[in-house]
Amino acid sequence: MGFDMSNIIMKRRSIRIFKDERLAKEEIRELVKAGLLAPTSRNNRGVELIVVDERDIILKLKDCRNMGTKGLETATCAIVVIADREKSDVWVEDGAIAASYIQLRAEDLGLGSVWIQMRNRVSDNDSSENEVRRLLNIPEKYGVLCIIALGYKKENKAAYTENDLEESRVHFNKY
Ligand SMILES: Cc1cc2nc3c(=O)[nH]c(=O)nc-3n(C[C@H](O)[C@H](O)[C@H](O)COP(=O)(O)O)c2cc1C
Repeated sequence: MGFDMSNIIMKRRSIRIFKDERLAKEEIRELVKAGLLAPTSRNNRGVELIVVDERDIILKLKDCRNMGTKGLETATCAIVVIADREKSDVWVEDGAIAASYIQLRAEDLGLGSVWIQMRNRVSDNDSSENEVRRLLNIPEKYGVLCIIALGYKKENKAAYTENDLEESRVHFNKY
């Protein structure tokens, strides 16, 4: 007990190259479960997920941003994290926690994932948020935070070790 969670945190790295093999339905369900059970401010539950498992739509999502989208090139699943801005004034935080839960559960299942930022990012023509909203028919009241690109890992990245900890970023009792 305790060891497993620590292990997952040390092992999780951003994976941007995936095998050409679709995730199992049960795996996707486990990822979605993690996102839905993540805490939200005042339990507003305004975070919603759009699971995209069709490669042609995933590639269109890639075009919603002008850079930083390599992970979507080979991803076999993409979970778009959106949140109802009318339900929560801290929808960004709510969405970020759900996205992180999905990424940690992905590592737990041995899957690769990377966070692709959409909020405050742009395509050649418009904001990435507008592009994604248009592509997926998302109502205007939803903020589009990010897309978690997912799949079976096709690149290996070293797990973090104690040496990677920057202890200078931690302060005790005062700065
Ligand atoms: C808020 C946020 C936005 C990110 N945006 C992107 C992105 O748009 N594209 C990308 O490839 N990686 C993105 N990442 C992944 C980071 O680059 C990555 O987590 C960081 O370099 C540390 O590497 P690691 O995840 O392997 O520990 C983002 C991560 C976070 C937390």
